Amino acid sequence: MTRLTIRRPDDWHVHLRDGAALQSLVPHTAARFARALVMPNLKPPLTTAAQTLAYRERILAALPEGALFRPLMTLYLTDQTPPDEIERAHASGVILGCKLYPAGATTHSDAGVTDLGRLDATLARMSELGMVLQVHGEVTDPDVDIFEREARFIERVLEPLIARFPRLKVVFEHVTSHIGVEFVRSARTGVAATITPQHLLLDRNAMFQGGLRPHLYCLPVLKRESDRRALLEAATAGDARFFLGTDSAPHARHTKEAACGCAGIFSAHAGIELYAEAFDAAGALARLQGFASEAGADFYGLPRNEDTLTLVREPWSVPATVPLGAGELVPLRAGERLAWRLVGR
Ligand code: DOR
Ligand code: ZN
Repeated sequence: MTRLTIRRPDDWHVHLRDGAALQSLVPHTAARFARALVMPNLKPPLTTAAQTLAYRERILAALPEGALFRPLMTLYLTDQTPPDEIERAHASGVILGCKLYPAGATTHSDAGVTDLGRLDATLARMSELGMVLQVHGEVTDPDVDIFEREARFIERVLEPLIARFPRLKVVFEHVTSHIGVEFVRSARTGVAATITPQHLLLDRNAMFQGGLRPHLYCLPVLKRESDRRALLEAATAGDARFFLGTDSAPHARHTKEAACGCAGIFSAHAGIELYAEAFDAAGALARLQGFASEAGADFYGLPRNEDTLTLVREPWSVPATVPLGAGELVPLRAGERLAWRLVGR
């Protein structure tokens, strides 16, 4: 196959930042995806529906002329999020859920949740209204090894939560381990997961290949090759519980090439091309449409996109850097070749 046309995909997990960075980021996502679920971990975080809707307007204002892209939003959950805020978010029609960042788990998560036990009324309201809980699934306990944080989160937090709220819809964002995959496969209805391109294409050895590779550091961190294989199998199996979420997470070059570098991998410049490569390698290009363009919309109860996107098998070189506001970032596969190229609209 040298040409692949699929129903236009959606990105169910992306970071678009704000201000000058937002301007330079939106075109990458809007060129590929019809919709994206935009993360709320700004500084300060988007903890109210009003803040989230104002941010959405800034995203719309940053869209290139004629773009049809539609941002969808998620509210940043804190220990104090009241049920009424869920009500307001739901009424907006464009805020689909709440993002659970365990406090301290990752970039801009300080205001996140320290104790889910305090949020019963809020979670109950989400469950009643069909609002989705988007979960960063890692414990923050410093005694837990970084490679085990996802597994411990499932046992300690997620399994009890799902049992306590049997109708709450939950997306296990950026699942990274075979344990996570098995958990989602065996969970009740209403539990799904997104998978990033980096976790499908790379294992943890890539972070140390020939030296330390800060641009391959993200959270949850890359895992073992056996985990990568489990993720690839889940993504390409035609199982609607797994769908596309790039977690494209831009950071200025100097903040990653530093003594204490930021977590996050930028992939929006090739947000569908990278998945095509992973699916192609698995001999599963025929399953890309279900994963990228159907399963997520179906889970969120939204219509599937009607238009299409075309990729051709025609190698291109990823630039060494991509503009980010007044600065630059280093994109995934910088300076390397990618096998699939996007055909412009
Ligand atoms: O690597 C990450 N970067 N993981 C996250 O959960 C947050 C993200 C970011 O916002 O940079
Ligand atoms: Zn993220």
